[in-house]
Amino acid sequence: MDAIKVEGGAPLHGTIHVEGAKNSALKLMAATIMAPGVYHLTRVPDISDVRIMRKVLETLGASVVYEGAHELRIDTNDVDKWVTPYELVTQMRASISVLGPLLVRFGRAVVAMPGGCNIGARSIDQHLAGLEALGVTTSNKHGDISAKVGDGMVGATVELDFPSVGATENVMMASTVAKGTTRIVNVAREPEIVDLADMLIEMGAHISGAGTPVIEVEGVDPSELHACDHETVGDRIEAGTFIVAGALCADELTVTGFDPDHLGVPLRKMELMGVELERGEDSVTVRRASSLRATDVQTLPYPGFPTDMQAQFMTLESQAQGTSFITENVFENRFMLAAELARMGADIRIEDRHALVSGPTPLTGAPVKSPDLRGGAALVIAGLIADGVTYVSGTRHIKRGYERFVEKLRSVGAKCEHVDIPDPESEE
Ligand code: UD1
Repeated sequence: MDAIKVEGGAPLHGTIHVEGAKNSALKLMAATIMAPGVYHLTRVPDISDVRIMRKVLETLGASVVYEGAHELRIDTNDVDKWVTPYELVTQMRASISVLGPLLVRFGRAVVAMPGGCNIGARSIDQHLAGLEALGVTTSNKHGDISAKVGDGMVGATVELDFPSVGATENVMMASTVAKGTTRIVNVAREPEIVDLADMLIEMGAHISGAGTPVIEVEGVDPSELHACDHETVGDRIEAGTFIVAGALCADELTVTGFDPDHLGVPLRKMELMGVELERGEDSVTVRRASSLRATDVQTLPYPGFPTDMQAQFMTLESQAQGTSFITENVFENRFMLAAELARMGADIRIEDRHALVSGPTPLTGAPVKSPDLRGGAALVIAGLIADGVTYVSGTRHIKRGYERFVEKLRSVGAKCEHVDIPDPESEE
C-alpha cells in the first residue's frame, strides 16, 4: 500500500510553484461539451480528478489528448452521448458539472446521482431547482437524474438557497442558451466561478456579474457558442496549503503562481496568529513563526474562510498558544482529521460543527490515515513538524488534488517520500 513517509524536523527553504486550480480545470473541461470544436486548455493540473474528468468526456465521445505536461487538447466535435455513468460520478462528484453543458448541447442529460462522500451527504437539490426554473424537467429513477428541455430553456430569476459552487456553475452554463435574460441570485463568488465565466464569455456567452452575488446571463443561440483556448486560474488552495507548511517550518518559503487576494481571509488569519507574510503580485513569502497565537476560524462561502483550508488550519492551530475555535459551516463530517491528528498528540475536541483545538502540543510521528483530500495534506504537514517518522496512508486522496505533492515538498528541503507499507487492514 502506498504511503508518504515524513521525517519531521527539516526546515523548508526555496520556492514552490502552484498549478492551475483543480476546482476550475474540472469545470472548464466540462464546459467544452457545450459547443462542438477543438479547445486548448492550459495550466491543467496533472491530478487524478482531472484524469476522471477526462474519462467522463471520453465516455461522451470527446477526444482528450495531452499536448505537453499541462495542456489539454479537447475535441468535442464527435460528442454524441448524454449519459454519465455511476462508475465515474461515484469516483468524483464534480462529474455532475457536465449536466448543464449536456443540456446546452443536446437538450437532455442523464447523470448518475452522486452518493454521499467522506465529507457529507452533498445534495444536488440546488442544481436541480435552478435548472427547473429555466424550464428543464428532471426526474430521479434508478439512481440517475434524467433532465430534459422541452421547447428550449427560458431565462428566469433563479434564487439559490445557498451559494453552492456546483449549482452556480451548472445553472450559469445552462442559462447561456436560455431565451432572454437569466438572473441567478445568491451565487457562489469563488475565483473559479469567475474563471469559468471568463471561458464561457470567450466561447460567445453573454455573462456579467461573475464574482458578485448576482450573475446575469443574456441567452444566445446555441450556434453562436464556439470553441476557445483558455488558461486555468492558479490554485489558491494548493498555495494556501504550502503557506501553512511554511508558517510551521520554513526558514523562508516563497509560493508563486496564484493571486494572494484569492486567499484574503486565510492570510489575514495567519497574520493574526503571528505569522509574517510578504505578499507579491502572484506570490507569498512566509517564514516560520517564532510563536503562534490561537485564532478562531469559521468556514463560509467565498470570500469567507474556505472550507478547503480548514484541515490545514487545524494542524496550524495545534501549534498555537491557547484554544482555537473552528466552526465548519459548509460541510458536515469534515472533522475526521481530528482523530488522526490526536494520534500524533494534538488536543482537539469536536462538538457538532465545532472543533476546539488547544495548544501548543508537541506532535510525534505515527502511522495515520488520510481522511480526505485536504485532511491528507494536513497530515503530511503535521509530519513535517513531528518528532520522528510519520506514515500517511490513503495517498489516493492527496493525489486527487495535489500534483507532485511530495516532490514539491522535497524540492524545498522536506524529508518525505512515497513508500510501500503493509496494509494494516489486510487479512493476510
Ligand atoms: C466545491 C469544491 C469543493 C469545495 C466546495 C465549497 C469543486 C470540484 N469542489 O464543491 O472543493 O469544498 O465547493 O467551497 O469545485 N449543497 C446542497 N445542495 C446543492 C448543492 C450543495 O445542499 O444542490 C450543500 C452541500 O451538501 C455542501 C454545501 O452545500 O454541504 C456546499 O456545496 P457546494 O458549494 O455545491 O460544493 P461543491 O460544488 O460540491
